[in-house]
Amino acid sequence: MHLLTTLALISSATASYPMLGWDAYTRFDMFTLRPGEITKQFSSYDRTNGNNDGYYGTYSCLYNSTDGRCVIADAKGPGEITSIWFTYESDSVVPIGDIRIELDSQMILQRDLESLVDGDIGAPFLWPLVGNTNDTNGGNVIKVPMPYSKSMIISTAHNPHYYHVVYRELPADADVKTFDLDDTALDALDTALGTRSESHTFTVKSGHSSRVSMISGSGVVTQLQLRVPEILGAPHVEDDGRAYGQGGWSSATFKLDPRNTQCQLTRRLDGTIGHQRAAVTVDGDDADLRLNPRLTAGKSTIDVKNTFISSDLDFNEFFYALHCKLNVTSDWELMDLLNVGPNNPHDEVAHEYEINGQTWSGVRHYLYGGDRIEQVARFLRLLSNLYLRLTFDGHTTVDGPIGSFFGSALGKFAVRSLMLSIDTLAENGAFTSWWPMPFNHSVAVELVNQAGQPLQGSIDLKWAPWASPPAPWGYFATQHHHAETKTGVLWNFLSETGQGVACGVTQAFRGAILPPNNTLDYLEGDLKVWTNRGGKTGPFDQATMLGTGTEDFYESGWYFTDAQDGTYGSTAVPFAMPLTGMEAHEYRELNCVGECVEASRLMLADSMNFDDGISFNIEHGPVNNDINANYETTAFYYHARD
Ligand SMILES: *[C@@H]1O[C@H](CO)[C@@H](O)[C@H](O)[C@H]1NC(C)=O
Ligand SMILES: *[C@@H]1O[C@H](CO)[C@@H](O)[C@H](O)[C@H]1NC(C)=O
Ligand SMILES: *[C@@H]1O[C@H](CO)[C@@H](O)[C@H](O)[C@H]1NC(C)=O
Ligand SMILES: *[C@@H]1O[C@H](CO)[C@@H](O)[C@H](O)[C@H]1NC(C)=O
Ligand SMILES: *[C@@H]1O[C@H](CO)[C@@H](O)[C@H](O)[C@H]1NC(C)=O
Repeated sequence: MHLLTTLALISSATASYPMLGWDAYTRFDMFTLRPGEITKQFSSYDRTNGNNDGYYGTYSCLYNSTDGRCVIADAKGPGEITSIWFTYESDSVVPIGDIRIELDSQMILQRDLESLVDGDIGAPFLWPLVGNTNDTNGGNVIKVPMPYSKSMIISTAHNPHYYHVVYRELPADADVKTFDLDDTALDALDTALGTRSESHTFTVKSGHSSRVSMISGSGVVTQLQLRVPEILGAPHVEDDGRAYGQGGWSSATFKLDPRNTQCQLTRRLDGTIGHQRAAVTVDGDDADLRLNPRLTAGKSTIDVKNTFISSDLDFNEFFYALHCKLNVTSDWELMDLLNVGPNNPHDEVAHEYEINGQTWSGVRHYLYGGDRIEQVARFLRLLSNLYLRLTFDGHTTVDGPIGSFFGSALGKFAVRSLMLSIDTLAENGAFTSWWPMPFNHSVAVELVNQAGQPLQGSIDLKWAPWASPPAPWGYFATQHHHAETKTGVLWNFLSETGQGVACGVTQAFRGAILPPNNTLDYLEGDLKVWTNRGGKTGPFDQATMLGTGTEDFYESGWYFTDAQDGTYGSTAVPFAMPLTGMEAHEYRELNCVGECVEASRLMLADSMNFDDGISFNIEHGPVNNDINANYETTAFYYHARD
């Protein structure tokens, strides 16, 4: 996965307190409990509980500094800044001017915010650890964890309107080394997670469950991969791309595993335009999309060039995926993926993409395989009626449908995040989780089939024995909720007692609102998190995180608007950042009555420790949960059990 390798920025110094700095992206030990720690958020949310969450900048400045700056975050340490998000105009944050970050009374940086989120300032502020409006459909993010021991102040030159700053409040005695801008050692991230693996094929009758895999010992599951050939990719495309005509060409560089024995390239094209052909070369040699093994053997990168031969209109390209087999019997594995188009400027640069003689760039939206509606209904049923059940040391902590678990309940849409992936391109493409799942004695994996038809497939686990078990830690767990929202009632992602760490959520929104009403109005709902009951059984004392809007929680902006297009509603293009994404978008088609969206937010550095309970929620609608839709969510967390 190229996102993983691009995230390979790690520090030489490892702090003693868990999950600090680059550890969040390299050690993945979110399961370590952090007693006394609280994740909090500053944001522009409406202090009166209304919907004035940033549009007018009313609540954006906590106060103004003596030199006239707008202070948006001010906390005493020890702590860590873990996520910064803005949205201003749908196409830029230029009007905000510069951002200043001061840690422990030292000026860490004062730079133009737009240049910073564009990745122009350089390491460690590089895509995808930063992203601009084109990367996120309207948001602007800084995901570089910045620890401090005594104090943190963030200010902007002008009122930023919508924003949030997520930070960790650490116990007073936590040993923290202040963030160092020069600490950007580029090193390889160990993607060879896991040293042992177990593979099982399964056949499970409807109404039955199949206990397909068990491990004895003590360690961490580092990868769980499921393949169910009956579940086909969603026949729905909404993507941005480019095209060229006679005399035109494009080229790009792809990464691959040198152990490859056979590789193939897949291009997404607009299938409604006939007779599209191009000549393909790999490192200058003639090739087909099913690549001759001679062209890839032993290589870790290849240069691919396509040269126009024919088309009824143009030769268009939306993405290229490179899959390889590592031996004749193995499945296709995704090696690299290039997303072409104006919404993917950083991805194009990362792949040295070039286009010559461009005749078009923009968004296309279509369904393919028109007579597959019946089949679509069938595999949607499988995504919601095949349950994954995980039991660690006798505790069943995961029991939910696979669609929502892997991040796409609306259909088999592509998911490409740091912890979850769905490969829709290869035949029988895998559903993969990289959530670390610790255990002391045993792991059992079950698939529970309530789909009304027999199913077969395979499940693969990779795991690593503990070198030295950290203490204390929590079991990997999920809560799955699926219902119509209720007027006046918050939507709950996760309600839990005891000790743990909450790490994010996947959410499918099935909207039934029709025009002329605003089909996405449910997105006006704000984040609301409470942690720690203080031993009481009653309500929580104080919210720890209050947000500004639903797509804002997903660190996008303006109802996931595509700034390229500028119009709200039916034009949003799915995007994938390492920790946030919009995986699917449907507008009055297939099974979507109004406007439907799938989104996810993984919280690693900004995971929320709780010592005594958590209530993690999102509102629906502008005020008092007044707009309803069908919501389906899976929250991910680690939970202490005896
Ligand atoms: C602080 O300055 C900003 C402009 O940077 C302005 O919009 C805001 O109203 C000021 N706030 C206060 C409390 O003076
Ligand atoms: C093929 O690769 C798989 C892993 O992808 C491995 O488990 C299997 O042993 C390999 N088979 C051969 C014949 O090398
Ligand atoms: C987003 O992409 C468009 C078209 O490629 C470009 O004009 C615009 O400057 C980009 N915006 C940012 C903030 O980079
Ligand atoms: C795991 O085992 C270790 C030592 O055997 C013990 O200290 C620890 O409490 C156990 N953890 C859990 C979650 O059971
Ligand atoms: C628009 O919303 C209003 C108020 O909720 C409702 O009465 C009306 O039926 C809605 N119209 C459509 C087309 O959904």
